[in-house]
Amino acid sequence: MSPEILKKILEAGRNAPTATNIQPWHFIVIKDPKGKKACVFNGFNKFATKAAFIILGVYLKSKSIMETYSLMDVTVALQNMVIASWAQGIGSCWMGAFNEPILRRTLNLPEDARIVGGIAMGIPKKIPPSPPKKKIDEIVHIDIW
Ligand SMILES: Cc1cc2nc3c(=O)[nH]c(=O)nc-3n(C[C@H](O)[C@H](O)[C@H](O)COP(=O)(O)O)c2cc1C
Repeated sequence: MSPEILKKILEAGRNAPTATNIQPWHFIVIKDPKGKKACVFNGFNKFATKAAFIILGVYLKSKSIMETYSLMDVTVALQNMVIASWAQGIGSCWMGAFNEPILRRTLNLPEDARIVGGIAMGIPKKIPPSPPKKKIDEIVHIDIW
């Protein structure tokens, strides 16, 4: 995958909005097989070893009141990257389940880094059908619940 594509994906994350523009995030691009393997957890995420790369989103813990929003900030950025990657034909899967101690050690994360999630990315061999989704009128409430 070309470095330009990866750059566009990362730019989509970098330009995501954050509460009060605090930008609490760091993104680790995992290309190394050891790092990919460290994303496999209890039989979950086996696909990670075959991903072209993985982008892990973390934020640094702080005592600021704005930390309340960091989880949202990093999630917004990662999902921006999912959309930007798909616009370029790159498929992805979110990962939230990790063996944190192993992943932290492998990636040399600082102690104050909180892992939000990872996105495994690659060129899809096939596009799986979308799983069933709830109907709009089951989940949308106009004006009141
Ligand atoms: C926050 C979040 C965490 C997820 N964590 C994992 C995970 O650890 N491993 C995995 O295989 N899929 C994971 N997924 C993928 C979901 O299982 C998948 O998106 C869901 O089944 C809906 O399928 P769809 O994305 O095709 O609509 C995660 C998705 C989200 C949004």
